[in-house]
Amino acid sequence: MQILQIISSAQGAQSFSTRLSQGIIDKLLAAHPGSTVVVRNVATHPFPHLEEAHLQAYFTPAEGRSAEQQEAVRHSDEAIAQVMAADVLVIGVPFYNFTIPSSLKSWIDHLTRAGITFRYTATGPEGLVKGKKVYLAVASGGVYSEGPMQTADFATPYLRWTLGALGMSDVTVARAEGIKIPDLQATALQRGIDSVAV
Ligand SMILES: Cc1cc2nc3c(=O)[nH]c(=O)nc-3n(C[C@H](O)[C@H](O)[C@H](O)COP(=O)(O)O)c2cc1C
Repeated sequence: MQILQIISSAQGAQSFSTRLSQGIIDKLLAAHPGSTVVVRNVATHPFPHLEEAHLQAYFTPAEGRSAEQQEAVRHSDEAIAQVMAADVLVIGVPFYNFTIPSSLKSWIDHLTRAGITFRYTATGPEGLVKGKKVYLAVASGGVYSEGPMQTADFATPYLRWTLGALGMSDVTVARAEGIKIPDLQATALQRGIDSVAV
């Protein structure tokens, strides 16, 4: 089994979303010995923000692309190839300013390609990335799974919707939440890891 780990925390080794991801990956490796893990850190090796050059390259047939357009499309081809090769995705999702980091959004922007990862049909868009299992390892200072802040979770519903639109609808959410709340801080990570059965 091939596992793709996406790291998007800007907090390096201290990152809760990365440590939660690792806890999930450890369980996956124990359940599926011999699996391989490919790591893509989009915080240290970010995908560029989408620019006109990227979009023009996407909509130019491969055989007609200039050298610059081939370079522009390389990021997207790379993101798509890594996802297509994976059986399982473990995506680290730090909560920054009520949503996902812009580095993770850039990865999604390069992953979302009409005709490759989704297509338009008479009844709406259809996802073309099939057969993947996705774990979202969400870390947040506050608590968003329940209580008054639930409606301010602009990360998890967005990711469920977007990944689903690409065909990845088998999504499990694990949370290390309450990182900034003294009573919850010490146990948040372990509770997140324990919540996942693989
Ligand atoms: C720039 C920044 C913005 C943050 N914004 C929020 C927020 O809006 N809501 C929240 O609950 N926690 C927020 N936090 C706390 C983080 O969610 C918490 O530090 C979490 O551990 C981030 O994941 P990471 O450790 O993988 O980086 C923020 C932290 C930083 C550094």
